[in-house]
Amino acid sequence: MGQSGGSIELRNLGKSYGDDPAVVDLNLQVEPGEFFSLIGPSGCGKTTTLRMIAGFEEPTTGEILLDGVDVAAVPAHKRRVNTVFQSYALFPHLSVEDNVGYGLRWQGSIDRAERRRRVGEALELVQLTSYAKRRPHQLSGGQQQRVALARALVLRPSVLLLDEPLGALDAKLRKTLRQELTSLHRDVGVTFVFVTHDQEEALEMSDRLAVMELGRVIQSGAPREVYGAPLTAYVADFLGVANLLAVQCLDGRQDGLRRVRLGDAELLATPAAGDVEADGHVVIRPERVRLVARGPRAVNSVAGTVDKLVYVGATTHVVVRLPQDQVVQALVVNDNDDDDLVPGTPVTVTLPPEALRLLAKTGAGVTPR
Ligand SMILES: Nc1ncnc2c1ncn2[C@@H]1O[C@H](COP(=O)(O)OP(=O)(O)OP(=O)(O)O)[C@@H](O)[C@H]1O
Ligand SMILES: [Mg+2]
Repeated sequence: MGQSGGSIELRNLGKSYGDDPAVVDLNLQVEPGEFFSLIGPSGCGKTTTLRMIAGFEEPTTGEILLDGVDVAAVPAHKRRVNTVFQSYALFPHLSVEDNVGYGLRWQGSIDRAERRRRVGEALELVQLTSYAKRRPHQLSGGQQQRVALARALVLRPSVLLLDEPLGALDAKLRKTLRQELTSLHRDVGVTFVFVTHDQEEALEMSDRLAVMELGRVIQSGAPREVYGAPLTAYVADFLGVANLLAVQCLDGRQDGLRRVRLGDAELLATPAAGDVEADGHVVIRPERVRLVARGPRAVNSVAGTVDKLVYVGATTHVVVRLPQDQVVQALVVNDNDDDDLVPGTPVTVTLPPEALRLLAKTGAGVTPR
């Protein structure tokens, strides 16, 4: 159903409202057919970015290229871009099929029979064929959302912009629609730019994602890359639970790793791209922290004491106190019943070098591709 093409390039894209910058020097490349997510907290510039790509907002600086062509002079309705907004804004007095077909009426070259065929095809894609005659108020929230998707897809855009399309739905329905949206993306082959502030959603669905803060992209890459190798504490924290520990950077490198001091332990850590600070920070995900009963000093380990345990069914979050009053959280899978970890237990905390990431200077904003 999709068109060929669908590449997006943003070059030094910026938007200010008066003196207030909403988007600052954005550089991004989205490949044809990619599922790309923009993620970041409220007010970081996600919607503004989408609105500029769609042509509803004029950039203050920079360029937008769609399939290699600068679209500065191309009005919104001439761009092969469609948007699904957070509030789906269906016409309440029109049936599902008329809502979906609405945009096609304005494309003069399409006759009635062709319009019916394409509406039918779009409804099939979102699995609403048997709901064609209903009105929006006779549908659930998730079904209305799918009508909004069909309405955008029927116009055969090469790029679909989705601004928090699942935002209005309850948690369970969000999860179902997440999967539906991913398979829909696979079926239509259209480039998706998906905006969310739900990190789990972005990690699960995207081919690549960009984490934004205060109008800037701080880091972009494949979910696994950005989650596993965050450049800054902000990115680490935004994409899930991360342990942030203050360390002192020591001289010398070993196999691309840097030596750092944590309390009286010397550890090896993987440096993020960009500059690191002498008094720096490392992050490590809780699921990468290993705990064993305290014994002879193991490699890349530090001595700690169990402080607190939080049982959450399949796993237990173990909070361990380290030297210098720092704490680290470990995720322990509850796969057997030896519960020898209790508060006060001395443990050896192993922080594998490949999982222990030495962060870049804050604000370095390095975006490797
Ligand atoms: N028309 C406007 N006039 C003035 N300021 C604006 C306008 N639109 C957006 N802004 C400001 O630009 C910044 C970015 O807004 P934007 O809507 O892009 O954020 P967002 O990342 O989509 O946030 P949310 O997750 O809350 O939707 C905000 O500080 C906002 O107040
Ligand atoms: Mg927004």
